[in-house]
Amino acid sequence: MSKLVKLHDLSFEPFITAAQIKQRIDEIGKEISNKFEGQKPLFIAILNGAFVFAADLVRACDIESEIIFIRLTSYHGLESSGTIKTVIGLDVDIKNRHIIIIEDIVDSGRTMHHFYNDLKEKSPASISLATLLIKPGALQFPIKPEYIGFEIPTKFVIGYGLDYDGLGRNYEDIYHLKEN
Ligand code: IMP
Ligand code: MG
Repeated sequence: MSKLVKLHDLSFEPFITAAQIKQRIDEIGKEISNKFEGQKPLFIAILNGAFVFAADLVRACDIESEIIFIRLTSYHGLESSGTIKTVIGLDVDIKNRHIIIIEDIVDSGRTMHHFYNDLKEKSPASISLATLLIKPGALQFPIKPEYIGFEIPTKFVIGYGLDYDGLGRNYEDIYHLKEN
């Protein structure tokens, strides 16, 4: 993993390897399994970015669980647009369920703040958040994920589900924007 990746007009360089990601997800899977054993949690994975993380995280948990997918959008290119749209919504009853949201990355925290508040109104038994990445330096909303893969600097990243204008989701490793 030493190659630069070019997507559209930008170059990205290696940042977190697939092996590091796997190791961390196995640890989080064990934590979640211990905590939610016997409670049949409902994972809610946020499309599009979290599809890869979600697939690996649920398989790292060895307890009974269910998973559904919803789609929220806010990003255009490198910038958050500020408005959150629900494109594919919740189609199951979450009342009294233990919810674990699976997100790829928390940046400003706007998306998760908005979604948390929506979920709370539906009276789940609990809500936890598992995010693969968080940029503490970019946070503008009071989001405290229960499970964090990696805290990273405020730099745009791609790979392992994350995209730059639609491209880059297929890489097994995570890359960050190359400074010139
Ligand atoms: P927030 O609402 O500002 O926290 O943005 C969260 C969403 O923006 C994530 O679910 C991602 O889809 C996207 N996003 C934020 N930072 C990045 C990044 O560095 N690379 C790719 N997507 C990102
Ligand atoms: Mg996302």
